[in-house]
Amino acid sequence: MAPTTDYAPMIAKAEAIAKEFDFSAEDVRKGVKEFLRLMVLTAPDVGLQNDGKAMTMIPTYVTGVPNGTEKGVYLAVDLGGTNFRVCSVSLSGDTKFTLTQSKVAIPRDMMVSDSHTLFSFLAKEVEKFVKTHHADHFEEDISHKLQLGFTFSFPVDQRAVNKGYLIRWTKGFDIKDAVGKDVCELLQKEIDALGLPVKVAALVNDTVGTLMARSYTSPGSTGTLLGAIFGTGTNGAYVEKLSKITKMTKPDAQVGEYDKSTGEMVVNTEWGSFDNALKVLPDTIYDQQLDANSVNPGIQMFEKRISGMFLGEILRNAILGLKKDAGLLNASTIAEDAPLYTPWSVDTSVLSFIEADNTSDLSESKKVLEEQLGIPAANLHTEEARAVKILVHAIGKRSARLSAVPIAAIVIATGKVDNLRPKPVKRMSIVEQGLEAIKSALTGKLPAGAADIPTAPTVKGDKEKAQTEEDLEVIDIGVDGSVVEHYPGFEKFVREALREVHELGVEGEERIRMGVAKDGSGVGAALIALVAAKAAGVQIP
Ligand code: GLC
Repeated sequence: MAPTTDYAPMIAKAEAIAKEFDFSAEDVRKGVKEFLRLMVLTAPDVGLQNDGKAMTMIPTYVTGVPNGTEKGVYLAVDLGGTNFRVCSVSLSGDTKFTLTQSKVAIPRDMMVSDSHTLFSFLAKEVEKFVKTHHADHFEEDISHKLQLGFTFSFPVDQRAVNKGYLIRWTKGFDIKDAVGKDVCELLQKEIDALGLPVKVAALVNDTVGTLMARSYTSPGSTGTLLGAIFGTGTNGAYVEKLSKITKMTKPDAQVGEYDKSTGEMVVNTEWGSFDNALKVLPDTIYDQQLDANSVNPGIQMFEKRISGMFLGEILRNAILGLKKDAGLLNASTIAEDAPLYTPWSVDTSVLSFIEADNTSDLSESKKVLEEQLGIPAANLHTEEARAVKILVHAIGKRSARLSAVPIAAIVIATGKVDNLRPKPVKRMSIVEQGLEAIKSALTGKLPAGAADIPTAPTVKGDKEKAQTEEDLEVIDIGVDGSVVEHYPGFEKFVREALREVHELGVEGEERIRMGVAKDGSGVGAALIALVAAKAAGVQIP
């Protein structure tokens, strides 16, 4: 049993630390403004206008989203987090699909090896999969290769739907000789060395895959706007007007061919690197410790405050802080090599478990702390577990509130916000219309549209009529990743923060529909491989 102690000062200290993780409504609004600036406005080396070093805003060469009628069998592989997945996806053309997959953990030392070691490992996994599930493709007379969508969830300088040069690694990977290389070529070379009948047809970020998968499985009248990942890392891709991606049309722009007919292209924002300069992001001592111990200090600063690879490490740092400053766990005997003392060894699922623990003596939390952090439950007082829970809650809630920033900014930047709220539509008589036209001809301004009319109380009368429900858009967002899926209350906290953004308000937030696009990166990669294969004239039986 722990000695009888007064735990009140320790709880007070935990609450003080939790306060440092606050991200206020005003902070959310400032964040949205800064995000908009980096996306579209004036920053010299970022955004849609210039190739960015920070938030890269990568044109993906994907110029349309699916509508659920796509068909065929495609391979997809997914490299981007802790696992490597190989799957084949059979799209049945009626918004449905079946998926067969295999999954292996990527050995940690391979994440920091060389490109041949990594990519030959991937090719061998593809070989195993194809031999097990598509043996028919090895017959002598095969007339076509299996088309493969390569989900590669790192920033690349994309030059075609199947060509992209690695800009930098993220999420703990660090294979120096791969930087600057076309990752499709690296994979194709190793596949060819094994003599596999497989063609790397498309290079896909997981966010783009999520966007595609969501559009395929829940097609709506307005399509899906955004695909977002809150998993090992965080990032989002959205549908942008080609005319706004001005960096593609600059005279010296190095761009490949793409279909211009839709007038749109999916942009991979790489928002994990939003505000590396820390102008608006919170920065506690625990964030600083994490950054200093990471393979990429000063980079992916937004991701390091939100996503699964990092939340466990922030918690570990905060617990150690509370131990040092307020005597937390001082009665416990913790082994020197316990996860609590080992950098990067605390999984984010620990936070999800503790946040979900509603037992009065926090017995579930104590169990997790023993099993995952090596803190013996026997000497752990309930008040100590409560102190840890206070930290967990603060870290998780901050992650969710930060996640609202890019969502709100993208809804605003794409103009979707204009259609979120009922607005009185002014009906003008013919005479009024004439007068208005003369007035605008004289002032050189366009006649005032409904959107410019202030939102007065909506009165249905002769001249004013409220927009009907059907006129208003639902904004559809596909999400995926362990944090959004498993952290209790994550979406609720995101929504609370969205409501605090003036431009969205309550009505706007309610019209944003978020849905998990399960297996999004596999299905999405298959869909993009389909488009690429069609464009290349490949017949898929
Ligand atoms: C990292 C990668 C990004 C990916 C995200 C989610 O931020 O840089 O490409 O989409 O993680 O996996």
